[in-house]
Amino acid sequence: MALDTSGRIGGATRLVGVLGWPIAHTLSPRMQNAAFAALGLDFAYVALPVAPERLPAAVRGLAALGFAGANVTVPHKAGVVPFLAEMSPIVRALGAANTLLVRADGSLYGDNTDAHGFLADLRGHGVAVGPGTRALVLGAGGAARSVVYALADAGATVKVANRTVTRAEELCQLIAGVLPETAHRLAAHAFPNNLTDLAADATLIVNTTSLGLHPATDSLPWDPAVSFRPGQVVYDLIYAATPLLNFAREGGAGAINGLGMLVHQGARSAALWTGADEGELARFMQEELERS
Ligand code: ATR
Repeated sequence: MALDTSGRIGGATRLVGVLGWPIAHTLSPRMQNAAFAALGLDFAYVALPVAPERLPAAVRGLAALGFAGANVTVPHKAGVVPFLAEMSPIVRALGAANTLLVRADGSLYGDNTDAHGFLADLRGHGVAVGPGTRALVLGAGGAARSVVYALADAGATVKVANRTVTRAEELCQLIAGVLPETAHRLAAHAFPNNLTDLAADATLIVNTTSLGLHPATDSLPWDPAVSFRPGQVVYDLIYAATPLLNFAREGGAGAINGLGMLVHQGARSAALWTGADEGELARFMQEELERS
């Protein structure tokens, strides 16, 4: 759905956007522009398709074009880090940024709001994460990094199960390196080995793999012989009712998709650019996405 921006974009409008490749299907422009309009913020948000070889030119161009900042998504989250003059501790820890702020002198500050977005959405669904949480994270790619960081930092025990176990081990080592106090609560497993035991132990299961994005052809990131149960929460980073979430509901478990994480990471980014209240931004972003 195209937004009616007539009369809203003027000479003083500040631009923000999202750098990605591909980027045509992003929901961010819709939800961000809806929140800007609702709060009377003179900002506009656009999708910025940036081919990998053009990333350096695009990042340098943000300041030249007067952008207030940008989001960064796949495949550029790590690629923007060398361009940052300053970065938040989580960007330094994970080597990945999803938010850029163009400062008055044109230099870039980088932040990563994904871990915050994930925890904020869980909180919004009434799921407390802390020392009593026993999490099982499926996948060990880029998306898993923020999730494992967030869970470990919040006090949870985290088991990472990945088809390629060495990637799960590397991820646990990365997080243990930056959050040493969490090292004894992190463990890597080869998926799908011992899934029955891992599932029995887990209170929160998080799918960070892309399996489920194409429900007609994707396999389940899970073994259908292993059921979920009431009291468990299954969170899927994909923004849809995936087969995994349907399977979780059949077992009586809670099922949450990634739309709320999108909202909360975006609201924190927008708060950084605009100075507006993050909670208000999130409320209007959520309302916009619920309209579809
Ligand atoms: P992202 O940055 O989105 O997390 P990624 O880095 O390519 O993407 O990671 C994709 C994750 O999905 C990985 O954990 C991958 O497992 P491998 O490390 O073994 O490749 C997982 N994944 C993708 N397809 C899979 C499949 N068919 N079965 C199991 N895991 C799969």
